Amino acid sequence: MESLFYVRLGLSKNTTNIKEHTMDYKQLAQTAIDAKKMAYVPYSKFRVGAALLTKSGKTYTGCNVESAAYSPTCCAERTALVKAVSEGEKEFAAIAVAGSAEGGAPQYCYPCGVCRQFLNEFATSDMEVIVVKTADDYRVHSFDEILPHGFGPENLK
Ligand code: THU
Repeated sequence: MESLFYVRLGLSKNTTNIKEHTMDYKQLAQTAIDAKKMAYVPYSKFRVGAALLTKSGKTYTGCNVESAAYSPTCCAERTALVKAVSEGEKEFAAIAVAGSAEGGAPQYCYPCGVCRQFLNEFATSDMEVIVVKTADDYRVHSFDEILPHGFGPENLK
């Protein structure tokens, strides 16, 4: 393990998930924060933004869109994924997620279980999930860490 080159750019100082990666996700983190502005959250008042990076380098943003009936609410991550897939994208390098209560302090907002499952449809083991507190303070996880032992398309073969 000592021979591995650990690049700590962008890793939160207090993270325990120091892993090998080469990306500085500051820009993707800021894009996720910016995507929060469009959140439609009259019920929860909890704004979430997502920035989904394709392997070809394009970024698709998403925000949460709530419903008066509550359960049809679409999370930011799923909004971003649906936008991307509907434009023909299927290969993703990373997704950054930023969420916080209106007027509340920044926090690490992890993808909900439904979004983890939905992302699993297209996620590969090298996909990274960036949980954003600020553009300079975020945690980087592998998708496998976020959803270990997931059920996916391979199971249906
Ligand atoms: N939310 C997301 O957009 N993403 C998540 O992964 C967690 C939850 C949204 C759904 C709802 O609009 C609000 O946050 C409060 O649950």
